[in-house]
Amino acid sequence: MIDGKTRVYGVLGDPIAHSLSPVMHNAGFAHIGYNGVLAAFCVQDIAKAVAGIRGLDLGGVSVTLPHKQAIMDHLDELDTMAQKIGAVNTVHNWHGRLKGYNSDWLGAIRALRETTAVQDKTVTVLGAGGAARAVGFGIQVEGGTLRICNRTRSTGQKLAAELESDFIPISEFDGDCDILINTTPVGMWPDIDQTPVEKRWLHPEMTVMDIVYNPLQTRLLAEAKAKGCSVVDGLAMFVYQGAFQFERWTGQAAPVEIMRAAVLEGLN
Ligand code: ATR
Repeated sequence: MIDGKTRVYGVLGDPIAHSLSPVMHNAGFAHIGYNGVLAAFCVQDIAKAVAGIRGLDLGGVSVTLPHKQAIMDHLDELDTMAQKIGAVNTVHNWHGRLKGYNSDWLGAIRALRETTAVQDKTVTVLGAGGAARAVGFGIQVEGGTLRICNRTRSTGQKLAAELESDFIPISEFDGDCDILINTTPVGMWPDIDQTPVEKRWLHPEMTVMDIVYNPLQTRLLAEAKAKGCSVVDGLAMFVYQGAFQFERWTGQAAPVEIMRAAVLEGLN
């Protein structure tokens, strides 16, 4: 029940109506009996939104597209990884000081770790956008050997140089890796018959992860399963990036299974 002591949180983005963060966090808050509520805010002016967090003394916010970079200039403190990645998806209001974190990389690593170790594995990341950047840093923190694989050579080479990793064009991908992670939107609804790499390059020793979670089973993951690969779907990364936010905000362990079930229901 919302009362005079309820701590209020938000998810900021544009568009935001389809965000699954409210159902996920509110299910978690309710499950542990935490007196908090999270609402979605469609935000155009991020500076004004951050002033709003301060003015209303909100507990924190989740940040999504297109504000993950721009919000950084308006916070009091940045976590080291958020600074390295150059993007913030989590803000915690700690007694009036706003600290920014990036939990996307943590979500990806925690999701992968359920299926495979990353240390000393060769990892190919498909894509060179913001998601690839966060996942790429995470792979390196975990001790994996990273290779960026992108459609546009210049963009891929730029990210690879920043991460001091190898680069290959997506057209030259030949399956030579232990772990393959798709961070491109290829295969996302409504283009569900698309896949970023040809099936012939998938092999049973490979772990294949897709950060797309709509649909949950992308064509890439369906083909990977058929080839005998281990697969990690995008829901795991989304839930684990949320679990970090939840734990930062509440100081309590996130009820991950409850949060996952809420997102699954929200997806259907
Ligand atoms: P985000 O920040 O969410 O990761 P982004 O910055 O738009 O998203 O990046 C999207 C990535 O997906 C890019 O690497 C893009 O490749 P290009 O650099 O060649 O544009 C990749 N991508 C998008 N559509 C693609 C497609 N149809 N085939 C291959 N790669 C695609």
